Amino acid sequence: MSFGFKNRFLRSAAAIAVLAAVGTPVLAEEIFVVSGATGSDLQDFPAIVKPWEDKTGNKVTIVPMPSSTSDQFGQYRLWLAAGATDIDLYQTDVIWAPQLADHFVDLTEAGKDLIAANFPSIIQSQTVNGKLVALPIFTDAPALYYRKDLLEKYGIEVPKTWDELTAAATKIQEGERAAGSKDFWGYVWQGNAYEGLTCDALEWVKSFGGGQIVEADGTISINNPKAVKALETATGWVGTISPEGVLAYGEEEARGVWQTGNAAFMRNWPYAYALGNGDDSAVKGKFEVTTLPYGAEGDSSAATLGGWNIAVSKYSKHQEAAVSLAVYLAGPEAQKMRAIMETHLPTIQALYDDPEIAEKSPIIPQWKNVFLSAVPRPSAPTLGKYNEVSSKFWSAVHETLSGNGSAADNLAGLEADLTDLKGDAW
Ligand code: GLC
Repeated sequence: MSFGFKNRFLRSAAAIAVLAAVGTPVLAEEIFVVSGATGSDLQDFPAIVKPWEDKTGNKVTIVPMPSSTSDQFGQYRLWLAAGATDIDLYQTDVIWAPQLADHFVDLTEAGKDLIAANFPSIIQSQTVNGKLVALPIFTDAPALYYRKDLLEKYGIEVPKTWDELTAAATKIQEGERAAGSKDFWGYVWQGNAYEGLTCDALEWVKSFGGGQIVEADGTISINNPKAVKALETATGWVGTISPEGVLAYGEEEARGVWQTGNAAFMRNWPYAYALGNGDDSAVKGKFEVTTLPYGAEGDSSAATLGGWNIAVSKYSKHQEAAVSLAVYLAGPEAQKMRAIMETHLPTIQALYDDPEIAEKSPIIPQWKNVFLSAVPRPSAPTLGKYNEVSSKFWSAVHETLSGNGSAADNLAGLEADLTDLKGDAW
């Protein structure tokens, strides 16, 4: 089966000839890694893999995917179901392990030193029936980004509840628009119908005390008055403090508005911190991060647990080199580079005490407790059905946000659909 990488053999042969001529071990292989294109991930990749390439004489080629994790998942499933031999390594979302486990090799033995160095809960999330299906390369937990210059200008405290956020965003938006910034918005987030909306909406629901959609024991909990209140609150933002277009936003669209200086608040993952402080950013040095707001006194902030891993395809013809690259990408050297260049949160515990990381990416030590207490999506209890659970959830939320049906009716419908999907057991 070929997916357009037909030069692979020729390129590998050329690399072997070159290396043989200069006396380096004749071992060169070309390894294909497939990965999403969020932020600067793709641009930084060559620098991150260079030390491994130099050490092994192998070459790594990245196969870019769209930034939407849902689009990536669809494509990966097709390739894996077809037994594609052209991709050696897959960068995988934290929620996919139970659904894709059969297609990947067990990394327990190769990764044993890393297993000991990682946070146990993260290793656990990638372990399915005793098999370690992927090695973690970074973890994720979102932040509320805010413009500290604008909070000062309008004399507003950092908001703690969603109501406070709504009031602050409204006031700043009105003020900035009156001062001539016609495209200015109060709050940007991820409202498109995809996995990112599942993450945002789980945070609203959980932070209003409305549970986790499906609980750890498999119970479907989403149809409750607190979840209704959470969705009604978010629906009130669309077209007021958030553009109508937020209903088509992923992470990168939200960051686009924010980073051009056109939003007071943004919900996003830590990767937006490094980029927001880049030289081409209009908000460089003007923002801070805090935890996401909660419903009311007595509730607490909720951050959805994200993160990415590296898995070796069972169908790869370069197993040994692919496993070696996976171990390198999940190891301390590569994780440290990602932490400094991309503000991606390490999964190796010791890196939270690394002085260079703390100096260059202060969000990282600050975010350790946020990700440690982050809320998992229900991928473990719903097993192979998680993707359907999530897509039914994000669809019900998207309909509500779009004004198609009330939150109460849409959540009642969702409960019925999830009950059918569950059948006797997940
Ligand atoms: C981030 C998270 C990932 C999540 C995705 C949703 O990439 O790390 O876990 O599924 O956002 O858009």
